[in-house]
Amino acid sequence: MLTLHRCCKTFKVGAFGGTDLPAVRDVSFDVHTGEVVSLIGESGSGKTTIGKMILRLSPITSGTITFDGLDIATVRKRHQLKAYYRNVQGVFQDPFSSYNPIFKADRVFTTIKDEYFPGLSRSEWAGKVEASLDDVALNPSHVLHKYPHQLSGGQLQRLLIARALLLDIKFLVADEIISMLDASTRIDVLNLLGELKARGLGILFITHDLSLANYISERAVILYRGRVVERGATEKVFGNPVHPYTRMLLASVPQLQRRWEEVEQELEAPDPEEFEGRVSENGEGAPLVEVEDDHFVAVPSVDELVRTGQAVAAPDGRAPAPPRP
Ligand SMILES: Nc1ncnc2c1ncn2[C@@H]1O[C@H](COP(=O)(O)OP(=O)(O)O)[C@@H](O)[C@H]1O
Ligand SMILES: [Mg+2]
Repeated sequence: MLTLHRCCKTFKVGAFGGTDLPAVRDVSFDVHTGEVVSLIGESGSGKTTIGKMILRLSPITSGTITFDGLDIATVRKRHQLKAYYRNVQGVFQDPFSSYNPIFKADRVFTTIKDEYFPGLSRSEWAGKVEASLDDVALNPSHVLHKYPHQLSGGQLQRLLIARALLLDIKFLVADEIISMLDASTRIDVLNLLGELKARGLGILFITHDLSLANYISERAVILYRGRVVERGATEKVFGNPVHPYTRMLLASVPQLQRRWEEVEQELEAPDPEEFEGRVSENGEGAPLVEVEDDHFVAVPSVDELVRTGQAVAAPDGRAPAPPRP
């Protein structure tokens, strides 16, 4: 459904925009219908930038993103964007920042009505809103006609998801939507995502929390400094991590409930040389090699994998190395 092909994003920073900051480098992956893909990486690794490119909030420097076969860079005119956002929506980390404190929280619904359903009667619209609140397990009397400060983070977050559901979207970018919630609401929102997936939504679940990724996603993409270092079926990436960065991440999570920040604080700062050396020897990205079915790892060469005993070389020396029996 959604495909990223060799996407790059370079920000111009510094005085007069003279310095290039490569935030996303040569990223490719896809998300299918009814599937949750986790995008995992530490702070600053480019996760939000990828989410924003998918949502057309930030232009792609190079590469393509296609949604149901449509190159989203061609979506420019107002009516095209409107059609795109009917299918693709995002919910971001801090729910409070998505609300204007001086307006009631359900104003976020009104803007959808004005834009997409101007013809609906009051009662038709009320019915639709109620159905979508029901989808996210919110009681209308608890959340309608309330100001943002009267609601909890979990309620505001679920309101934003309900808003996205009013449009019958096919794809949701969920950028760290769980991190800010307290433990009791986290599981509710997580279960909600599980239900949406079961209804056929594709979800890009952006997180720095390995346990959440492990819990919710079919496939995982590990980002390091804007590059994919490993990706594939979650149970393969988590169960048989090959890239040293992924291994380090997983080794440092003895209990899956622990949060990334806690773990990071205890770790020595990772040595970028070690991972960058693996990722890039000459400034170019290392190719992703398929080490087993649906499991790709960035390594400088197949020889490297063979040397470390993680793959056997294909006879012609070109094809991806099959896994060791
Ligand atoms: N609008 C911007 N202008 C310049 N640099 C940016 C901008 N947005 C993000 N960056 C930089 O791009 C990198 C990736 O940021 P981001 O995508 O927010 O990472 P993450 O979501 O993984 O924490 C960071 O170095 C960040 O400082
Ligand atoms: Mg972010």
